[in-house]
Amino acid sequence: MRNVGIISVGSYVPKKVLTNLDLTKMVETSDEWITSRTGIKERRIAAMGERTSHLAINAAKDALHRADFDPAHLELIIVATISPDSNFPSVACLVQKELGAINATAFDVSAACAGYLFAMTTAKQYILSGMYKNALVIAAEKITSLIDWSDRNTCVLFGDGSGACLLGEVDHDRGIVADYLHSQGEHNEMMKVVSEDREPLNQTSKTMPMPYVVMQGQELFKVAVNSMADAVEIVVKKAKLQLSDIDCVVPHQANDRIISAVAKKLEIPKEKIFINIDRYGNMSAASIAVAFFEAIDQKRIKKGNTVVLVAFGAGLVTAATVVRW
Ligand code: ACO
Repeated sequence: MRNVGIISVGSYVPKKVLTNLDLTKMVETSDEWITSRTGIKERRIAAMGERTSHLAINAAKDALHRADFDPAHLELIIVATISPDSNFPSVACLVQKELGAINATAFDVSAACAGYLFAMTTAKQYILSGMYKNALVIAAEKITSLIDWSDRNTCVLFGDGSGACLLGEVDHDRGIVADYLHSQGEHNEMMKVVSEDREPLNQTSKTMPMPYVVMQGQELFKVAVNSMADAVEIVVKKAKLQLSDIDCVVPHQANDRIISAVAKKLEIPKEKIFINIDRYGNMSAASIAVAFFEAIDQKRIKKGNTVVLVAFGAGLVTAATVVRW
């Protein structure tokens, strides 16, 4: 039986920082409100002309460089994104071209904030089946392009970024131990992208409708806490482990209060939870990817540790993965 694991990780965030103070000049808000309600102090914003594929390519190169891996040997590239450069081509195909990964199959998956884990599980299954030997999984979001910058309910929450990992066969003492994916389409209204109706074909319109995120914050908050706590319990059980066996939890970074509530519900000490929302806000699929990278980089995750990644997002979708590092 093959055993699939993470060979390397990489990350990239845009240089431009947008602080809470900057936001007070754009909408009626305050650093105190944003910090106390969300834990966010600042977020990164992609530069004009910097697109999701650029973020993805930089994170991909970082992950490949750290493994000293030749892109020509890549067999699969999956990009998790809800903010692709355009409807088509896929971001994954743009990454493939830029990397020179001429032998890879490339496609995108859409699972909002849980996208990185949906993509990782998908890639793992391809490797387990024997169809491909390795896979590059990337989460990349320029979600700030989907934000109504006059809506203080949403514009303070999000940021741009990207993370990646290279998957392949590893020894049996490490790797992806268990995973869990769950969708609740009945809650699709809780968070979505809306837009004005398009003009019918053959008619012209001077203004282009702008898509933007709307959400029911308080309802999402409750579902997020319950879904993520349930997902951790389910995936840990699937891995035949106890919650006390977990060394580090890397949760989706939507709100520090959601993360605290999940930790409390599961009775996991907060020191075991990795949090970087203060510096990045919610980067959708890229949140977990960047947090996982930083937890490893900062040695919060060490060799032999058992880690749970857990995410929740629009759809609604939930995902969790147990990794032995
Ligand atoms: N600055 C100042 N005041 C604000 C702001 C702001 N940026 N935004 C809202 N307010 C006001 C509201 O208008 C409201 O005022 P009112 O009482 O006069 O009507 C008041 O603050 C309280 O608003 P609430 O919505 O009740 O605030 P809450 O404590 O619920 O926090 C928040 C809002 C941060 C959005 C929270 O509900 C939350 O984090 N929800 C989960 C969101 C989430 O997880 N989204 C993403 C998940 S899916 C994904 O990541 C793709």
